[in-house]
Amino acid sequence: MRSLLVAFTLIVVAITAPMMAAQKVELSIDASKTGAKIDRNIFGQFAEHLGHGIYEGIWVGPDSKIPNTRGIRNDVVGALKAINVPNVRWPGGCFADEYHWRKSIGPQRAVTLNPNWGGVTEANAFGTHEFMDFIDQIGAEGYVSVNVGSGTPQEAADWLEYMTAAAPTTLVKERAANGHPTPYKVALLGIGNESWDCGGNMTPDYYVSQMKIYSRFVRNFNPEQQDKHQMLKIAVGPGGDGPRWTDWTEIVMKAYQQHTWSWDINGLSMHNYTVGHWPPSYTSVGFGETEYSQILKFTLEMDGLIRKHSAIMDKYDPDKKVALIVDEWGGWYAPLPGSNPGFLVQQNSLRDAILAALNLNIFARHADRVRGANIAQMINVLQAMIITDKEKMVLTPTYYVFKMYVPFQDATFVPVTLDAGWYTHGDVALPRVDAIAAKDAKGKLWLEITNLDPNQPVEIEASLAGITAKSVTGETLTAPKVDSVNTFDAADTVIPRPISAKVQGGKLTLKLEPKSVTVVSVEQ
Ligand code: AHR
Repeated sequence: MRSLLVAFTLIVVAITAPMMAAQKVELSIDASKTGAKIDRNIFGQFAEHLGHGIYEGIWVGPDSKIPNTRGIRNDVVGALKAINVPNVRWPGGCFADEYHWRKSIGPQRAVTLNPNWGGVTEANAFGTHEFMDFIDQIGAEGYVSVNVGSGTPQEAADWLEYMTAAAPTTLVKERAANGHPTPYKVALLGIGNESWDCGGNMTPDYYVSQMKIYSRFVRNFNPEQQDKHQMLKIAVGPGGDGPRWTDWTEIVMKAYQQHTWSWDINGLSMHNYTVGHWPPSYTSVGFGETEYSQILKFTLEMDGLIRKHSAIMDKYDPDKKVALIVDEWGGWYAPLPGSNPGFLVQQNSLRDAILAALNLNIFARHADRVRGANIAQMINVLQAMIITDKEKMVLTPTYYVFKMYVPFQDATFVPVTLDAGWYTHGDVALPRVDAIAAKDAKGKLWLEITNLDPNQPVEIEASLAGITAKSVTGETLTAPKVDSVNTFDAADTVIPRPISAKVQGGKLTLKLEPKSVTVVSVEQ
């Protein structure tokens, strides 16, 4: 009986083995056919006063034993510098519409409440100067969201004068007395956050009248931002799919079309999390292929949403002057057991790495309209780059994807043609392979390929036109399981490793592991 069973098992293995053989996938890339610039701002970050995103994640204070520069963690700064963060959106999120900037400047800081997130107190130790110091240390620009919900245009106008003016006004003298005589730069200005919900539950028409007032009076006075490098004003945009959101985009964009000399907007924000269903119930770790495939299916809805809202924007702004800025995106899962549910603490797995790559590829394909995006959130919150616990720090799989994509910042999009068929699991069908290509400033070709299939490797054969390819090098990110994570004790489970690839006769060949993200560059 036992030998019969063994024989039967061997037959089953023999039958199923070919199923695991690598799928051959042909790609074609013509490097002479280029598209829009992939704005480096699509690799932006979001840091809200929420849980341990700011306090402990960035700010430990100058007296901390954790190595820091003026209170800002050195390990976190070092890690963020390596991913070339273009901009950081701050101070929220919902927090922004309850934030009053004066409470967090100067030697005496008010202790206030953070009713949105965990009902904790807000020390206001991290304010304007600390934020500006932080982005300066990591080499990023500031995307500051002003309080439209519970603030006033005057409060926001004063804040911008405080930050950006050079003339010796009372506010500028106060800034100098607080340690910064020269004006700060504010690259992007968010006019409210989710004003349709936590930002004040406004109707689109009411928001539009607020938006015009803030756009008119909240000025940037930095002398270096008057002609070149002008501050971009980002209006609140849609928060999902359905008529409520298409109506919102219609009304804001229609107003934009009729704008006069006295006000303007340069961007429309869009928020779209990969959550499945509210409240978030998918777990961030300890899941299998079913949850893996479902979450990836949800995340690919980003493409349809961008198309829908871009089409509305095209009606009112055919020249694409207003950028679509996806300034909150990422996986939002059930809070980790034992954590404060208001702190939005979750793990970050190989699935998140793949999710990040798919979204970045979607943004790149829409580079003519999507010229900014901010993953939520940078440290210790939602789909974070970095997780800290006191003096410990670990870099997540999502961090490594951002690192691998650095060459795509400001590179020129190059279309890729492929038909890799489908990966199916249960009732979910996903494109087996996703890919983008781009040329950097030096003309070097970069190719990203994601193998979504968690079971089968893929053999890529890419025909390259428009360049004479000589050699290829690259890295791939994968791990044993779809829910593999990096921990403080095992920080190298999901990290990029070198991949070998060949070019011969204008063809690039390489083998992709199941559930992997790969970036290669082609030398000519
Ligand atoms: O990122 C967490 C929250 O999600 C933000 O504060 C809010 O804008 C969104 O609803």
